[in-house]
Amino acid sequence: MRRKVIAGNWKMNKSPKDVEEFMERFPGLVSDTENEVILCVPFIDLCKAVKLSKGTNVKIGAQNMHFKDSGAYTGEISPKMLNDLNVEYVIIGHSERREYFNETDETVNLKIKAALTHDLKPIVCVGETLEQREAGITKEFVTGQVRNALKEITEDELKKIIIAYEPIWAIGTGKTASKEDANEVCKWIREELRALYGDVADEIIIQYGGSVKSSNAKDLFEMSDIDGGLVGGASLEPEEFSKIVKYN
Ligand code: PGA
Repeated sequence: MRRKVIAGNWKMNKSPKDVEEFMERFPGLVSDTENEVILCVPFIDLCKAVKLSKGTNVKIGAQNMHFKDSGAYTGEISPKMLNDLNVEYVIIGHSERREYFNETDETVNLKIKAALTHDLKPIVCVGETLEQREAGITKEFVTGQVRNALKEITEDELKKIIIAYEPIWAIGTGKTASKEDANEVCKWIREELRALYGDVADEIIIQYGGSVKSSNAKDLFEMSDIDGGLVGGASLEPEEFSKIVKYN
């Protein structure tokens, strides 16, 4: 049985002082869950988040990184820096990065390799636009993103990767994919992993993301191929996020 993994993505929200407030309440609310809990916070919050999560079951992730170890890349953060901070996870290829910051399948692949080299576990985001869904090319597009992201990744490396299926039209819009539609795409992703790697596909965590809230988490996370979620807006408030984490 695959474990359930629920990750919060704070995006560009909350300062270090807000981290303190959040971490005063949140770990206590989720201390009794069997599910894996991750908080992906802005770079500037990582130090405090890692410190305040010590001794709790909350794991900390970044939301992006560069693929180089160091160098003249003004404003960027390297995987080595994240590892030095004891950050455990990193979101790679979120649709907002693909859309606004020129992230491509190629840079996603480079970043996954760099993250793994530095012992960071990637949460790799894929998902189609509304136009692609309406044109009937969701399967082709999403499985293509998965294939490109995983170029030259070994089976052992794959086991450290989480894939988050996030239909772009459902992110921050309040429009959640139906549990059947979401599960169907997660299944396609798993089939693609099986075609590429064989039965290890059954061990890989595939999350759903896009307007997940406490009122729909259970329905979504109980589907056969959805192993938890990547949660944006609803992860900003400790009580609401704890209800999602403890949906079961
Ligand atoms: P949302 O964001 O839950 O606010 O829709 C999800 C995400 O972008 O990861």
